[in-house]
Amino acid sequence: MARKINSNLILLFILLLAAFSCGPSGTEKSDKVLYLDPGQPVEERVADLLGRMTLEEKIGQMNQYLAPRYAKASEPADFSGRLDKLLKDGLVGSLLFVSDVEEANALQKVAGDSRLKIPLIFGIDAVHGLCPVRGSTIFPTPIAMACTFDTLLVEEASRITAREVRASGMHWAFYPVLDVARDPRWGRTAETFGEDSYLVGQMGRAVVRGFQGENLSSEENIIACVKHFAAHSQSLGGRNIAPIDVSERTLRSVFLSPFRAAVEQGVFSAMAAYHEINGVPCHASKELLTDILRDEWGFQGFVVSDWGGIEMLISTHHVAADQKEAVRQAITAGLDMHMQGDGLTEPLLELVHEGTFTESRIDQSVSRILAAKFRLGLFENNYVDPQRTSQVLACAEHRAKALEAARESIVLLENRGGLLPLKKELKSILVTGPNADNNALTGDWTAPQPPENVTTVLEGLRAAVSPKTAVRFVDCGKVFEESTEKIEQAVREARKADVAIVVVGESEARYDDQGNWARPRKERSGGEGVDRSDLTLVGRQLELVQAIYKTGTPTVVVLVNGRPLAVDWIAENIPALVEAWEPGLEGGTAVAEVLFGDCNPGGRLSISIPRSVGQLPVWYNHPPSAENDYKYMSCQPLYPFGYGLSYTKFEYSNLEMPATIEPDENFEVSVEVRNSGERPGVEIVLLYVNDEVSSLTTPVKELKGFQRVALQPGESKKVTFNLSYGQLAFLDQNLEEVVEPGKFAVMVGGLTGEFEVPESAGN
Ligand code: BGC
Repeated sequence: MARKINSNLILLFILLLAAFSCGPSGTEKSDKVLYLDPGQPVEERVADLLGRMTLEEKIGQMNQYLAPRYAKASEPADFSGRLDKLLKDGLVGSLLFVSDVEEANALQKVAGDSRLKIPLIFGIDAVHGLCPVRGSTIFPTPIAMACTFDTLLVEEASRITAREVRASGMHWAFYPVLDVARDPRWGRTAETFGEDSYLVGQMGRAVVRGFQGENLSSEENIIACVKHFAAHSQSLGGRNIAPIDVSERTLRSVFLSPFRAAVEQGVFSAMAAYHEINGVPCHASKELLTDILRDEWGFQGFVVSDWGGIEMLISTHHVAADQKEAVRQAITAGLDMHMQGDGLTEPLLELVHEGTFTESRIDQSVSRILAAKFRLGLFENNYVDPQRTSQVLACAEHRAKALEAARESIVLLENRGGLLPLKKELKSILVTGPNADNNALTGDWTAPQPPENVTTVLEGLRAAVSPKTAVRFVDCGKVFEESTEKIEQAVREARKADVAIVVVGESEARYDDQGNWARPRKERSGGEGVDRSDLTLVGRQLELVQAIYKTGTPTVVVLVNGRPLAVDWIAENIPALVEAWEPGLEGGTAVAEVLFGDCNPGGRLSISIPRSVGQLPVWYNHPPSAENDYKYMSCQPLYPFGYGLSYTKFEYSNLEMPATIEPDENFEVSVEVRNSGERPGVEIVLLYVNDEVSSLTTPVKELKGFQRVALQPGESKKVTFNLSYGQLAFLDQNLEEVVEPGKFAVMVGGLTGEFEVPESAGN
């Protein structure tokens, strides 16, 4: 027995000695392994590691796979075992949808046992919070966040999301979406920051600041990913993935400019878009992915394909006959990582062996991916304490920010006769409508959340009223489930009520009630892949509103939706109309606060709401010639970009600016804003500029600045905007940015002023 123990001890000693004296290759001393030394500069660590990698391992870093728990339904039964082998062999760089911290830790452990111990980077669609994860903080969807015009709030919300992503073992969000939404038929409109490039760019910068922060290796920060590069929102007919046909001038000035802003902000990853632009699929566009993104703008990060985007070069675009050719086109264009699954390694190995690509081309992509991992500090620490996850996710501080965001994002569209705010002492209120008491307010990408984490509109209202008020609820089921019986029941209750509150809108969630990413399309009216040829309320919702209106009971309509809806009948007939968007898990509280006046709504539309789908497009910054009315309808939207009411009144005066602006001169425009009403409120001050006569047509007006100003009744403040000369530029015939001499109009809050760029200014 004693002899046996001794020999075991000796064996253990030898093994320990080997472990301490061998580097990752098993032959070098640890103090010589430069890439494992956090004190070395990232570039040198990358170069050192690259020098140790085989070609197979390098290509492995360019592969992203679906997390096994998520993949259960979609991947073959042997997937998990196969993935395990790939991880052990160091042939995987990234996974997506590792939405569980135990799984994250277990996967890192397997990768950590591979020859070079390269950690994995995990990405997820944290679009408005860490929404695919149960128990996280869900913010209003981006289209709503943009209605706050509050970049600081968006930055803070993004930092919270980053903290939750990191605390769940992940490091990378496929967000912000910087598609400029000019066609609300597109099902993904809710994921965007709306129709104005400047606003989208500013919001994009805020997300990048919030996600990436100052130090990517901290527990507060993650890598952002701008998408969908580029102009995904402008597809023909608003149909997802349909082609776009656009002039380079419009492409650059409208659709690329927000991406450029995010690159200036230092965003470290980008995702190619599925569609084609003028015949060239984005996944195969060297012009976009290399010439513009890297060579022109100086982007330093890595580019990931969209899910199956390389394969679509074969199946959707028909520009490649097989996978090898598709990979050749994508890598030539500048892609660095393949989302998701098999499909990259073998073709790419063949292409290198045949000489189509040099190994240094592969090194370029791998360096970018490794640099991200080093900057994230993953080589030093890639495990997460599950206790931290439960402390961080949806904690009180995060939920408070979600409530603040919901309050700021709500837009009051109508308030005739001052029906709102409602009195809390009403005797009875009817609440009905398909979105009054369900998860619709958490929007697309959101997994079912614990009911106790979400305050529905009904719950918010119940909590807000006085104990004397009876709140009756008629449950109509979800959108598409409104039955004659339910409508009649709601009408009966409306007759007895002092006020009826009808909550209608859309249903976008992609998850079913069990949390599977498999909700039938027929139950959804928006979200990815659910585009619409019509923008009216789906199902029998309008019928429900009209029936209640006919009772004569004062009626409030609350919209819970992700894209603009053509609600012209409601706008004309219902005295109070509130656009709540998809306000997130605290949305019900915020809606109740607005309806009862605890919160004075101040949101302004980030996207125009059309009267009818036939009017599209209706974006506000159109060229001057786009203003002919239709025979039976105006060309103006029902509510334009920037529209929003308040319970108080604001007056503007003293719009001031210099008379002339010299080249490269920054200048100030100021205006005085006064709260002339009786309640405190926040006014969003929007500043537009118009180049009055230009050599090529320019928009009737363009947003150049925005500020939020909080004012007590009777209070005035001077609001000053700092503008740069460059903000007066447009793209000329040669696609050069030029400022032409002449007069410029400035429009702020109904006031107009003018300044001149003198003749001598030239370009
Ligand atoms: C979407 C992307 C998303 C990806 C991963 C794709 O279908 O277009 O926006 O990031 O899936 O979930």
